[in-house]
Amino acid sequence: MSEAVALIVAAGRGERLGSDGPKAFVVCGGRPMLDWSIDAFRAAGVTRIVVALPAGYDAPEGCIGVPGGVQRSHSVRAALEAAGDSLDVVLVHDAARPLVTARIVRDCLAALTADVDAAIAAAPVADTVKEADGYDVVRTLDRARLWAVQTPQVFRAEALRDVLAQDDAILAAATDDASLVEARGGRVLVVPSPRDNFKVTTPEDLQLAELVLASRA
Ligand code: C5P
Repeated sequence: MSEAVALIVAAGRGERLGSDGPKAFVVCGGRPMLDWSIDAFRAAGVTRIVVALPAGYDAPEGCIGVPGGVQRSHSVRAALEAAGDSLDVVLVHDAARPLVTARIVRDCLAALTADVDAAIAAAPVADTVKEADGYDVVRTLDRARLWAVQTPQVFRAEALRDVLAQDDAILAAATDDASLVEARGGRVLVVPSPRDNFKVTTPEDLQLAELVLASRA
């Protein structure tokens, strides 16, 4: 079996963060957000890393860089293509989650057993979640069965390649990569992960990420 490859998508603009440049390169805890994820993957023993980049940005040292796509899943596809053919296991990760740890990466890799197509980091949902039609509540979901999904998401390379070969419109509609595997009947497992592996979206998230990083130092 070949070494696992990490695909880190960093090509988004991050408009909701209100930063000057792309979100993955915004400084968080004294360095570009992207660098924290790269450290976590390397600490977990994943050293082959491909980064999907915004125009005009170079890959960090020791990583392969590739231009990102219009939508997130197009960036994932571009990174997978750049990773080459001899792959067994692929991890997909958002650079916008700088609080990922080596432990989370290792747990996801360990969960990808022979009969599983994907293993995805996720936190149990703390709030009660309701489905509404506009503002009219339709039903209350059973919280005990709900997970808030994060990255990394670990895939058998073949399963990910198959789903990413679909039409651009199908890819554009997917909010995560694992849902594409689920839609094809693949077996996807959730891997318990702490809530603090959240995605930095707003300026408040960035402040919170700074605090968490400072508390870990
Ligand atoms: O915009 P959002 O926060 O959902 O993006 C999630 C991740 O996907 C970010 O790390 C972002 O850089 C990446 N992305 C990308 N290519 C795009 C859009 C988003 O690599 N076209």
